Amino acid sequence: MFNFDELFDRKNTSSLKWDQFKERLKLQYNVEDASDILPMWVADMDFAIPQVVSDAIKERLDHPIFGYSYVSDECKNAIIGWFDRRHNWQIEPHTLMFHQGVVPALGTILETFTEPGDKICISTPVYPAFFSIPNAQKREVVECDLVLADDTMKFDFTELEEKFKSGVKVYVLCSPHNPGGVVWTREDLEQLVQLCIQYDVLLVSDEIHADIVFDGYKHIPTLTVKDADKAKIITCIAPTKTFNIAGVHAAIMVVPDKELRAKLNADKLAHGRDDLNVLAAAGVQAAYEKGDDWVDSMIAYVSNNLDYVVEELNKLDGIQATKPQSTYLIWIDYRETGLSESDMMHRLLEKGRLAIEPGTKYSEAGRGFLRMNVACPLEIVKDGVERFKTALL
Ligand SMILES: Cc1ncc(COP(=O)(O)O)c(C=O)c1O
Repeated sequence: MFNFDELFDRKNTSSLKWDQFKERLKLQYNVEDASDILPMWVADMDFAIPQVVSDAIKERLDHPIFGYSYVSDECKNAIIGWFDRRHNWQIEPHTLMFHQGVVPALGTILETFTEPGDKICISTPVYPAFFSIPNAQKREVVECDLVLADDTMKFDFTELEEKFKSGVKVYVLCSPHNPGGVVWTREDLEQLVQLCIQYDVLLVSDEIHADIVFDGYKHIPTLTVKDADKAKIITCIAPTKTFNIAGVHAAIMVVPDKELRAKLNADKLAHGRDDLNVLAAAGVQAAYEKGDDWVDSMIAYVSNNLDYVVEELNKLDGIQATKPQSTYLIWIDYRETGLSESDMMHRLLEKGRLAIEPGTKYSEAGRGFLRMNVACPLEIVKDGVERFKTALL
């Protein structure tokens, strides 16, 4: 029904992944000509978006006027319907707030609820905006490393509590976790919520990866766990990873707490910020209303890609790859090769002609790891794996 094998030439589409990366590789790694390097880095997919989404945007384009707009009840109901259907989470319409992205939402939240010098705690390794934003806002980033056990990452709650005791204002959770693709259990989330209540910490739950979860795992929205209503929680959700529409720019904050909402509304007013633009709203509504089949098929396809990569990479000396529980991003452990990160990146880029992410991009805790994006046709995945092998020869 959906053809995820179809190859698209994304070059010259102002794509970060396929065009702008050449500049980055030149600056960061002195790569003079990256035109034959295969990009499997930033988290978007090389699949066509669901046709129901492009049709909805085209339909809106057919009306020749693009005046001021607002997010309709139909669009809000589509969002609510999706999270009810897919995550058994009943969101109240008045708790929805919109933003241009989860990263800018994080920026707004931290700016609204903290002051320069305040402590923001994160579990590392983690998506870089979790530290780059507080750093840019002159907040103090408190890193608490996740521990590796049973082929997955786990919280060290004792350590986390020690950090909270030192006066943390905000904890930013990545759920499911990027990188590593961990789906946190209900027990994990409950323990985290209890700690946030005990130490009066604002919990920001970034759930942008919630929809791409593999068999045997279930994403639990933080706001649905025990005592979530007694904690201060802001959850960020978005259709952008799920439906491959990051360039459309759309995110949603779910803010059940009245006082938190009032402060965020005051900040919105202070900055003259608007909700979703008219094309984004059309796409978001269609995605959440009609995108189920596409997402189910995409997950099955990506799962198969992951199985392939795990099997192939584990044949290589010193490489350990474990299938993530969520996300199309595979976290590869190369510590046993004995290679340094710069040696590894040099080999991947110069010999393999493959661009994947170095682990320290996700903090020092990521040293010895790589992150590879497999949300692309299997033919490209196979090419990527061959390049990886060549790099290690
Ligand atoms: C955990 C996480 N949050 C946020 C983002 C980006 O969000 P946005 O594009 O909505 O700013 C990403 C993208 O990879 C991500 O992995």
